[in-house]
Amino acid sequence: MDKKTIALGVSSSVSLYKACEIIRLFQKKNIAVQVIMTANAAKLISPQLFSSLSGRPALVDLFSSPKPEKIEHIALTKEIVLLLIAPATANVIGKMAAGIADDFLSTFYLAVRSPVVVAPAMNEAMYLHPQVQENLRQLKTRGVVVIEPERGELACGEEGWGKLASPEKIVDVCLEIIHQSRSLRGVKVLVTAGPTREYLDTVRFISNPSSGKMGYALAEEAAQRGADVFLVSGPTSLTPPAGVKLISVESTRAMAREVEKIFPQVDVVVAAAAVVDYEFPRKFDHKLKKERGPLQLELRPTIDILAELGQKKDQKILVGFAAESEEVVANARKKLKKKNLDLMVANDVRRQDIGFATDFNEITLVYPDGQLEEIGKATKKEISRIIWERIEQIIKKRKIIPSA
Ligand SMILES: Cc1cc2nc3c(=O)[nH]c(=O)nc-3n(C[C@H](O)[C@H](O)[C@H](O)COP(=O)(O)O)c2cc1C
Repeated sequence: MDKKTIALGVSSSVSLYKACEIIRLFQKKNIAVQVIMTANAAKLISPQLFSSLSGRPALVDLFSSPKPEKIEHIALTKEIVLLLIAPATANVIGKMAAGIADDFLSTFYLAVRSPVVVAPAMNEAMYLHPQVQENLRQLKTRGVVVIEPERGELACGEEGWGKLASPEKIVDVCLEIIHQSRSLRGVKVLVTAGPTREYLDTVRFISNPSSGKMGYALAEEAAQRGADVFLVSGPTSLTPPAGVKLISVESTRAMAREVEKIFPQVDVVVAAAAVVDYEFPRKFDHKLKKERGPLQLELRPTIDILAELGQKKDQKILVGFAAESEEVVANARKKLKKKNLDLMVANDVRRQDIGFATDFNEITLVYPDGQLEEIGKATKKEISRIIWERIEQIIKKRKIIPSA
């Protein structure tokens, strides 16, 4: 098997000596480590130490690369399977959250497409500062995994929160993520996302407030786990995740057409789009004038994409979303049966703090045997990780994964 490489960002916390142990633990697992230090970290400890331990020159300065023929901070992104920053100072975390790129490490972070893990270490007051907490929250919503620091004796002599998590724990979390990044290799996935629009005339339509964030997070997570991902999306303002094939649509019927084309090629369908269930039987090909006076509109149910797929699914895995405003679980159970699904993700769209157009969700997973699993409020990125873990269990039972 190819030897994998991770990048280890080291910033200027006293606990940076623990990065030596982190390197050793990765090496024991046959994983090579490329160290990137901040200039301030290089004031606390010589880069020479990390170069010797890792067997590769530690990178510090963006403008004096050991390989000047390459743009090192871009070339390296293609070599690594993960970026770990341990210890991460308040400063590095703030720069990552703000998108500042003024040294090798912060510039590299913006260019990296592999999973990113951050292990903060600092004095308790710094760690609990609302700005630091806000920065960490932002990073989490973007999919960065934060290994929370522990409580203990800190370098400043105080007792409190802010102690770097143990090297063993940090390396275990990273190994788990590296393992996950191959877990859907060979699997073909279709995710639908966003709202649909049903036009009345050339400018007016009915729709819903779906932002597409849940579907995009699911597509991103599947791609990061190595799946081939098709994302059929209604109109959103989101940037498609790296590596997915985006197909943009507007109406429910257009989404149904694209889904039907792709369906025969895929193993798993996750239907997270908030489709409009009704359409106008009559569409005007010009903008209706208000001089017409009162307008009575007729709507009729449009195509039920998931129910159609449920009819012809064979061995494919179908996962649906039930956005409900009453009797959430009971309705989700009914839909799961009616549409012949393998898993239903139910959420309550009455709540303002989760669901439509927010970064958070709180869901109940409903299984065909009637089992329920409640997942507490978490970022959509975290929720999508849990959903894919559950889908992977179904995939294993069905033996869909080609032994990659
Ligand atoms: C001895 C010493 C220890 C420090 N320990 C920490 C720390 O544990 N966490 C932290 O966020 N900042 C710590 N700082 C402050 C940072 O080094 C400082 O904010 C610096 O600007 C961060 O630069 P960097 O993030 O580029 O490494 C420490 C500073 C010194 C001098």
